Amino acid sequence: MNRIQFSYYSSTKQLTSCYKKLFSSLQNLKSLNPSFQVLSAETPSNPYPHVNHNKSLTIEGTSYKLDDQTNVSPSILSKLSRNLHLQPHHPLYILRTQIEQHFPHFSYFNTLNPIVTVQKNFDDLGFPKDHPGRSKTDSYYINEQIMLRTHTSAHQLEIFSKMNKKFLISGDVYRRDEIDSSHYPIFHQMEGAQIFNMQNIEQEISEDKKYLISLNSTISSQKTPLRDNNEVNDDTIISSNNPIQSCHPIEQVNYVIQHLKFSLNSLIKKLFINHDENLKIRWIDAYFPFTSPSWEMEIFFKGKWLEICGCGIVEQDVLNKAGQNDKIGWAFGLGLERIAMVLFDIPDIRLFWSHDERFLNQFTNFNDNKIIKFQPFSKFPPCIKDISFWLNDQDFHENNFCEIIRDIAEDLVEDVKLVSFS
Ligand code: PHE
Repeated sequence: MNRIQFSYYSSTKQLTSCYKKLFSSLQNLKSLNPSFQVLSAETPSNPYPHVNHNKSLTIEGTSYKLDDQTNVSPSILSKLSRNLHLQPHHPLYILRTQIEQHFPHFSYFNTLNPIVTVQKNFDDLGFPKDHPGRSKTDSYYINEQIMLRTHTSAHQLEIFSKMNKKFLISGDVYRRDEIDSSHYPIFHQMEGAQIFNMQNIEQEISEDKKYLISLNSTISSQKTPLRDNNEVNDDTIISSNNPIQSCHPIEQVNYVIQHLKFSLNSLIKKLFINHDENLKIRWIDAYFPFTSPSWEMEIFFKGKWLEICGCGIVEQDVLNKAGQNDKIGWAFGLGLERIAMVLFDIPDIRLFWSHDERFLNQFTNFNDNKIIKFQPFSKFPPCIKDISFWLNDQDFHENNFCEIIRDIAEDLVEDVKLVSFS
């Protein structure tokens, strides 16, 4: 038998009533994983009132069949329609439009449905069947075949198939996660991709790079000059740990890599042009099933390296499936909240979801010469609670517990810590 002890705190007293509800709802662990036995909680009458467990769930007019894989929760579903990246004056909207300005001749897709097939989110991109991202503890499933997208890459194949050569996709993405100030189960990503004709890649890339440089210099002549490259740290090398694809000639891959790194470095420098602190960027090797080689880009903020972007050379298999066999190119996925937190000085990821005018009205006078820094507003003093419970099952995942807390207390609970598991 395992005793699991969590400590959690919120800044309001409303949490006391949540605490009681939470305790009685521990039985929900059972509906998330039928092997759980919660020995000291009462059974609530219907823990998921919007879900008719034997039948279906209707989301925005479409009905979905439910099955053993279903694990979407009411608090998550209630956020599907918020579309923060489309709300004028919201920091995520401001950031999205700034990124779009850096890629002016791209096609933009900002309203693709976050409810996607598992095929699109994972299979089409070459995720192995046992990839941990597929598990129910990490992703939200509506049923065995339909899920909430975990990344904007879920739309890559579909957009490449429409013969697009350069595009940006923005949208909300969903991953089950911890509770603290920098994690939230919904965040926003911006996917970018550009592909070139294999045959005359040198010419296409050099024309495009000239264009990007001229774009940057127009901007820098209006404002402070762009910071120089010394602040970008990149010792990544092509090796067997992060290889090029066997179907790609090294010379052509090198052109694409240079173009990708130039596009992203210049984007980040431009976004942070008015940032007070010195900007440090670094590139590190990474792995994604749908790019090779792959990298992550990180920025240094408040003493820590923050990952803000995953990227790489698109797997040829994805381009071939899309009917773009004669192309080669790059793709990236930027995490918008991480960048916006640094840019606007927003200390807690949950503030993006606030309906409080003290938050929303702060950004209405934004113009791109001046980033508006977030001004904190008062909160009630913190109130800390501990809770322990017993389960007679080894197979416990912290995310299942966090999900219950979110459903009951929504964003009132600011931090949840597993104190002991014995
Ligand atoms: N989809 C990846 C993620 O969410 C990021 C990525 C996008 C990586 C495009 C490579 C290419 O982590």
